[in-house]
Amino acid sequence: MNADLTELCRRLLHRVQSDTTDQSDAPYIEPSLSFTDTERHQAEKELFFANTPQVVGFAGEVSQPNSYKAVTVLDRPLLICRNADGELRAFINACRHRGAQVADGNGCAKSLSCPFHGWTYDLDGKLKGRRRDAAFSTANPEQEDTSLTPLPVSDRGGLLTVGLTPAMSQHTVNDFLGDIEAALENFDFASMNSIDTRRFEVNANWKIIVGLSNEGYHFENLHRDSLAPIMSSHGVVDCYGQHTRWAFSLKTILDLAHTPETDWPSEFPGAINHTVFPGTVIVAVPGAAQMIRAEPGPVAGASTVYYSGVFTGSDDPASNQQLCKAATESFDFGERIFVDEDLHAAEQCQRGIAAGGLPDGVVSGRNEPLITYWYRLWNDKLAQGTVGVAD
Ligand code: FES
Ligand SMILES: [Fe+2]
Repeated sequence: MNADLTELCRRLLHRVQSDTTDQSDAPYIEPSLSFTDTERHQAEKELFFANTPQVVGFAGEVSQPNSYKAVTVLDRPLLICRNADGELRAFINACRHRGAQVADGNGCAKSLSCPFHGWTYDLDGKLKGRRRDAAFSTANPEQEDTSLTPLPVSDRGGLLTVGLTPAMSQHTVNDFLGDIEAALENFDFASMNSIDTRRFEVNANWKIIVGLSNEGYHFENLHRDSLAPIMSSHGVVDCYGQHTRWAFSLKTILDLAHTPETDWPSEFPGAINHTVFPGTVIVAVPGAAQMIRAEPGPVAGASTVYYSGVFTGSDDPASNQQLCKAATESFDFGERIFVDEDLHAAEQCQRGIAAGGLPDGVVSGRNEPLITYWYRLWNDKLAQGTVGVAD
């Protein structure tokens, strides 16, 4: 472990030994309307998602020249590629003929062929060919723009950050993770291999879903038979402007109390949830990472959630296969807990709030400091009407 992770481990060990957790100064109450109000929901969609860079994947998912990954954000089809020279590119995933998606999922290919009429593009977004080309000839062929529409994209911190509109500057996207970049660089997200991405439609406000990955208070109840036997609920938190980090440990961290620091393991003995604005969670665990991205659905009480995973592979094919198998098993285990326990609870919370059961609002205790931090941050950003870094 490097100095930052060793210090984090030291702080966490202290929390577990003393049966305490990092805390905020006071309990906090968020008005119930935050989760049900249509006007607020639309404002969040516009300000926090459409007009803010979005972290949508791990750089390792497009690490090779001529690799690509298709993603959907707010129903917008996007395509992230590495071109033949290994340069990162992003486009609106819409064919310049009539708009069909030129790629789906992820993979490697020298060219992408639109499934509708077969227009073919290279991974720089340039049209390479189309059947019956003469049928499209015009008087001013030089004015015809047939390349996929580019978007700003960055892979800083080992994460894929993209702007949803061509009007967003590259500078805004490059600088978006600046405050938390050093913490992200504790992990080599840029060389991890993709496992899978799963999508869920959830009947809960997106902020409730972000909250699921930002407190350990629920471990011993909701996850008493799944996660709690192995993970401790004590946590340490760090805030980096509009991003945060929450670390919690395996129960075996207590063994380190009797181990000289020079003999501590090379990997952090637990999980670190990095939450980047507006609420994408990157969970780093030894040898693997997951991303949970919740985006607002058509109404305040609905969200679309993407759960994706990557793992650290090996150059040796046999050990890579083994690593992949083990990582896929823990990815599936994590998904089951997340879907059956966390998302199920989130939908119950939404129903309770929408039914008017919390007239005073939704409470977070001192022991849930990041819940309070994020509610305050979202409210401040909405009040200011701006997010992100200035150009
Ligand atoms: S829409 Fe892509 S080739 Fe027609
Ligand atoms: Fe949970």
